Amino acid sequence: MPVKAKPWLMEARGYPPPSLDGARIRLDLNESPFPPPPGVVEAAAKAVAEANRYPRRELYEEVLGLLSGYTGAGEEMLVLGLGGDMVLEKAFSLVLGPGDTAVAPEPSFSMYRVYASHQGARLETVPLREEGDHWTLPWGELLEALRRGARLVAVDNPNNPTGSLVVPGEQELVELLEEAGRRGALVVLDEAYYEFSGVTYAELTESYDNLLVVRTMSKAFSLAGLRVGYGIAHPRLAERLRALMPPFLPSPSLAAAAAALRSPGYAEELVRLIRREREWLRERLERLGARAYRSYTNFVLARLPGIEDPVEALREKGILVRRPGLPGGGWMRVTVGAPSENSMLVNAVAELLGAAPPRP
Ligand SMILES: Cc1ncc(COP(=O)(O)O)c(C=O)c1O
Repeated sequence: MPVKAKPWLMEARGYPPPSLDGARIRLDLNESPFPPPPGVVEAAAKAVAEANRYPRRELYEEVLGLLSGYTGAGEEMLVLGLGGDMVLEKAFSLVLGPGDTAVAPEPSFSMYRVYASHQGARLETVPLREEGDHWTLPWGELLEALRRGARLVAVDNPNNPTGSLVVPGEQELVELLEEAGRRGALVVLDEAYYEFSGVTYAELTESYDNLLVVRTMSKAFSLAGLRVGYGIAHPRLAERLRALMPPFLPSPSLAAAAAALRSPGYAEELVRLIRREREWLRERLERLGARAYRSYTNFVLARLPGIEDPVEALREKGILVRRPGLPGGGWMRVTVGAPSENSMLVNAVAELLGAAPPRP
């Protein structure tokens, strides 16, 4: 019998998502601050107007074709799900059972623990190490966990919440895949922030049928509310994962995804803007005396000196940010918002630190 997720585990991810509680700015869930463009909204609205019908097969196939063009992976290598979340959940359910072990960095995306626990499995963790302005993953410890019998390795690259690229390189990843292959274990490489990092190892799925790369349209494509994510895997693995997926994805989600992929220019522009804003935010936070780590994502991990709980302190000022689950006080993970939101955040941090807000 799979074990049900404990309520605190769901809360760890922010489930159910907190209401705004009167907060003015929400920078806690790594969402895009901008709604999708009108063409995408219209496509979704048109699908809603035909919601009496089940989603058409052709629409699903159109999205697969467009995603194939976008990723460079063949359609037989793609697995569509309700968010990257669902693809992750199915991957965990494919290989894990009661008493099994999965391994992931600590900290990392909080749902890995939830999905392992759904299967009655245990999540072993490998602590990330702080090195100057970024965090590294002791790769040898992942290999050791495999040798001790872990059935699944999940690595988010870039890592949430540090924003760091934690896969050292292709050679190391291949070594892990070979070790996992000898032991029948699965490697899940979570590239949810791929558009912001520009770094991918998806091509290795052609040679390794024990590698799943997970992506999402929630971030760069501004579609978090429509829940569109996908996996890239060797056709043999993709087929096994597709067999676990529900028969339909909602037609508004598919229609929006198709429209977004037909004109990805807005997403590219958004990524450029978010990257610029991210560097601005990092620099301002550092100037205020905070530690703000280099990021390859749409969020920044920061530590504020002398403020035990910045999450609560900022909530009182109407700004929601996230606790990243690192030991000690002062930590916050802040999503890069629209320029006005980022300025408000910087001003609020300046107030907390008793510093004059930095000039624009
Ligand atoms: C590392 C990582 N993986 C996966 C996801 C899931 O994204 P979604 O289910 O919206 O596609 C997120 C979302 O925050 C994430 O940070």
